[in-house]
Amino acid sequence: MTLVGAPVPRLEGLEKVSGQARYAFERLPAGTLYGWPVQATVCRGRIVAIDRDACLALPGVVGLVTHENAPELTAAGDGEMLLMQSPDVAYRGQVVALVLAETLDTAREAAAALRITYRPSDADVEVVLGTGSPRLYAPEKVSLGFPTDVVRGDVEAGLAEAATTVDVTYSTPAVFNNPMEPHATVAAFADGRLDIVDSTQSTGMVRNRIAALFSLLPDTVRVTAEHVGGAFGSKGSPRPCTVLAVIGTLVTGRPVKVTYTRQMMFSIAGYRNPTISHMRLGADTEGRLTAVAHEAYSHTSTIQEFAEQIAVVTRHMYAAPHLLSTHRVAALDVPTPRNMRAPGECPGAYALESAMDELAVAAGIDPVELRIRNEPGSDPETGSPWSSRNLVDCLRRGADLFGWADRDPRPAVRRDGRFLVGTGVASSVYPALTFPSGARVTALPDGRYRLGINATDVGTGARTVMVQIAADALGAEAACVDVYIGDSDLPAASPGSGSSGTSSWGWAVHKACTELRARLAAGASIPPQGLTVESSTAEDVQAMAPRARFAYGAQFVEARVDLDSGEIVVPRMVGVFAAGRILNARTARSQFLGGMIMGLSMALHEAGVLDRGHGDYANHDFATYHIATNADALDIKAEWLDETDPDVSPLGGKGIGEIGIVGTAAAVANAIWHATGVRVRDLPVQPDALLLAGLPAV
Ligand code: MOS
Repeated sequence: MTLVGAPVPRLEGLEKVSGQARYAFERLPAGTLYGWPVQATVCRGRIVAIDRDACLALPGVVGLVTHENAPELTAAGDGEMLLMQSPDVAYRGQVVALVLAETLDTAREAAAALRITYRPSDADVEVVLGTGSPRLYAPEKVSLGFPTDVVRGDVEAGLAEAATTVDVTYSTPAVFNNPMEPHATVAAFADGRLDIVDSTQSTGMVRNRIAALFSLLPDTVRVTAEHVGGAFGSKGSPRPCTVLAVIGTLVTGRPVKVTYTRQMMFSIAGYRNPTISHMRLGADTEGRLTAVAHEAYSHTSTIQEFAEQIAVVTRHMYAAPHLLSTHRVAALDVPTPRNMRAPGECPGAYALESAMDELAVAAGIDPVELRIRNEPGSDPETGSPWSSRNLVDCLRRGADLFGWADRDPRPAVRRDGRFLVGTGVASSVYPALTFPSGARVTALPDGRYRLGINATDVGTGARTVMVQIAADALGAEAACVDVYIGDSDLPAASPGSGSSGTSSWGWAVHKACTELRARLAAGASIPPQGLTVESSTAEDVQAMAPRARFAYGAQFVEARVDLDSGEIVVPRMVGVFAAGRILNARTARSQFLGGMIMGLSMALHEAGVLDRGHGDYANHDFATYHIATNADALDIKAEWLDETDPDVSPLGGKGIGEIGIVGTAAAVANAIWHATGVRVRDLPVQPDALLLAGLPAV
């Protein structure tokens, strides 16, 4: 019997759809108070006066925390966590006070009654190239420790010798992680122990960060996260609501819960920073790249550096003798941007895969063929062999499925009624990461098993896949395995981020269960309390051979543009992925489709609209910040190749949470160009840009 690979439905599906699953904010320990964050209304400045009277006079208000009475916090490597430690304001929306009250309504009303006077100072909230951004600098490293700049060969010489070149600049706007469940925390401090129920991607990281911040021993802090309603990276490390709930319980001695409104999500949950990518590509007469330059620009806040690894994807993707890849960041008076689904790869591949399309057009080569001609035999960055790389097969299979073969490369020549019609392609890539983890499995005398793995399931199906892996390794039915996840008291395991959860946790589960089965087979007896095995993959992960490990994909898109209104419709998308062994066909398909739809949303809809006067994004709710809905997601197919990669983990699978979004926006924009002949290089592509450029009369 093999459960791994089967389309097993989510184990907690019924609990969720019937409303029985309890999310963090639905917990209500006896005596719970509600905390309401108060946000700064200037984007840079200093608090000069706080009038508390009206706030504190409201019946039911129990406490008010500001910089004047907040507990002192220890720097824990994240400036966003150092809440209310000074009167300085670093961005509009920063939390400057916490109101604690008996009910949510009272807390909200009291927060509105608080009068804070600020002395504002001049703010800088936007990177503008050319005319100057004095705050731009080269960070020491970019995210995940990648080098800021990589130079191979001589890009100028490579461009000079090219038969065809493109020199173009692309931009992506601020886009916002908006999981269905906003961030939420319930914290209770009793008998020297801090209990936190959090909406997080990693209970272990929350425990360690909170312990450091409040100078507590990690053993005295327990964090659980049984159900998490989505994250997209925004719950990858603790956010202010976690810190606020802990402050609240320490100050009042009562359990405190804090959540964000949807509007708050836009400033204190993290977001993808706006990016600018200056791309220069050169190719010889055969379409082989002679040079690639990717110069990336982004912003961070003044309290925490976040330097997104935007140009790193370009270092690994195609063979080119000359390469330049750089990052410059400006520390502005804005909220700190953070990881959002495929940080780095997502905006970086939008630029690279758009530029590849422009190069294909300029060189008169089919864009699928251009990519195939530039397939590197080993990782151009390190020279390491690929653990597996089946990008070419993804492109070929996708082209077949989509019907690419007889495509007319000319733009703006197909009309169907009111619509211009075009097609586009782009490659996808995402690192296949594996981190050390531990698992605990117990055989019980009644024939059941108890599996403990500190995974988090943000809706992906992680819990279900862990049971599939365990049941196979134990030689048991899935129904005989009870699984416990999302608890920092379990053996340490890696965070649910970077598309690394399944391979990292799965390896630990597989290892523990394999050993337990071997012990039972060797005749070990099961005592009344059960026979327990704990695993750790720390040494196994350490011993992995040097390989370049990535998942790949190819995205094909049809776009139709209304000649009169410029409205864009994407009736058809096909994604083919090579992501190692797929461990659950049902939840994997969901992940790929979700990524592709999020990429479609990025291509056509999502944008924070900067209000330069007030230094904030003007649209911070779902009425004005548009996200793709069912009506946008029409015929979308996700397929995967039969690949298995034992170099990533013994299970042979690569991560799939993020790759679906990578390349999608480029494929959409490339299809819009093919439909209209208009190349829009600033996302999202919206009707006004097409109409202003002038749609052809076909
Ligand atoms: Mo994901 S953006 O790596 O949490």
